Amino acid sequence: MARLIKFSILLVLVLLVAGEVLGHRKSHSKVPKKIKGHSHVPKSQHHHKPTPVAQPAVQGIPQPTSASSVASPTPATAANGKNICRSYTDTFSNTRIVEAQDYNNDPKTAEWINLSGTTSTYSLDGGQLNMILNPPSSYETITTSYHPYNSQLGYGLTLNSTYLMHYGTVSAKIKASPIGGVVTAYITMSPEGDEIDWELVGNDTLHAQSNWYWNGVILWGVHGGNHTVPPPGISETFNTYTLNWTPDAITWLINGNPVRTLNKADTVVNGTAEFPNRPSHIQLGIWDGSGAPGTADWANGPIDWKSQKSNPRTYVSEVKIECDPTWNQVIN
Ligand SMILES: *[C@@H]1O[C@H](CO)[C@@H](O)[C@H](O)[C@H]1NC(C)=O
Ligand SMILES: *[C@@H]1O[C@H](CO)[C@@H](O)[C@H](O)[C@H]1NC(C)=O
Ligand SMILES: *[C@@H]1O[C@H](CO)[C@@H](O)[C@H](O)[C@H]1NC(C)=O
Ligand SMILES: *[C@@H]1O[C@H](CO)[C@@H](O)[C@H](O)[C@H]1NC(C)=O
Ligand SMILES: *[C@@H]1O[C@H](CO)[C@@H](O)[C@H](O)[C@H]1NC(C)=O
Repeated sequence: MARLIKFSILLVLVLLVAGEVLGHRKSHSKVPKKIKGHSHVPKSQHHHKPTPVAQPAVQGIPQPTSASSVASPTPATAANGKNICRSYTDTFSNTRIVEAQDYNNDPKTAEWINLSGTTSTYSLDGGQLNMILNPPSSYETITTSYHPYNSQLGYGLTLNSTYLMHYGTVSAKIKASPIGGVVTAYITMSPEGDEIDWELVGNDTLHAQSNWYWNGVILWGVHGGNHTVPPPGISETFNTYTLNWTPDAITWLINGNPVRTLNKADTVVNGTAEFPNRPSHIQLGIWDGSGAPGTADWANGPIDWKSQKSNPRTYVSEVKIECDPTWNQVIN
């Protein structure tokens, strides 16, 4: 009899645990696998009101939304129709960054366009770009059954290169913030929404993530890659993150070692290669991944601002752009 009671108690416990696990799985399965035609970035870094539901990971970098305050530069095109691309190494000693509303549409006059932030979202000193994430003036951490998130976001930086690159190699030396919830991103982005990403997420300092999108079609969690970064990891030292983009393949490299290759041939759907193929800006940024439960989960957030003694920072010491001369009219 005692045995039977013990067995019954055990059975009830097993059923309870199983129910908990299944319930958890179910809440995960609510995360949509595929959303078409939706912006994959927060609408506004400043007043974004996150919805209290599980959401998929936000990827890329926040893009400008206020058309009136943002220039839409015309891509520089040579007489032969090729994209004009500047091959150079930016060591952030004589770098020119202009605000979007001041940009005169002449890529010769600046290296980067500042698309967001306030006066303190970046500084250039000691031969490096310091990308700074400022805290929100106030915020609450909201608990949900899926994952907590913050009611207000910190505001960070997005830089857009003035020139576009149509295939080539770009390398950036980056020392990323280790703070959970802080996302460092370095991507290529075409006006049509072709995108190739490197993303460094705080509190997972031994990994870097890769991703890509084609034609603005956002496939959540479909194309992402997760790659080992050797100790001491993404935050204790500068590592070199490279994108080698050719018409046939994209290779992601860490410190010169290839960690992933995407072949164009493997992206063909119904006869169309869904492969990034259009001239793209290079963008650098830091943003707050605390704004929704799914995003905060992915970003190892939400950010615990109360325990931060200073604003989260990511340092970039060099960006090297080598344009493919077959596809670009290359200038120096
Ligand atoms: C970047 O642009 C924003 C928006 O125009 C502006 O408020 C800010 O001062 C700029 N940042 C710097 C460091 O110039
Ligand atoms: C990283 O996550 C752990 C576990 O959640 C936490 O204790 C720690 O404070 C986090 N560290 C940072 C730098 O975010
Ligand atoms: C920044 O890059 C995006 C993506 O290519 C482009 O559409 C946009 O016009 C650029 N904005 C500015 C102000 O340079
Ligand atoms: C990357 O891999 C590590 C180790 O397995 C894991 O902790 C981390 O959550 C992974 N990140 C993503 C986005 O899959
Ligand atoms: C491919 O095209 C066929 C016929 O038009 C269509 O039924 C199918 O859904 C398409 N597949 C994909 C993955 O788009």
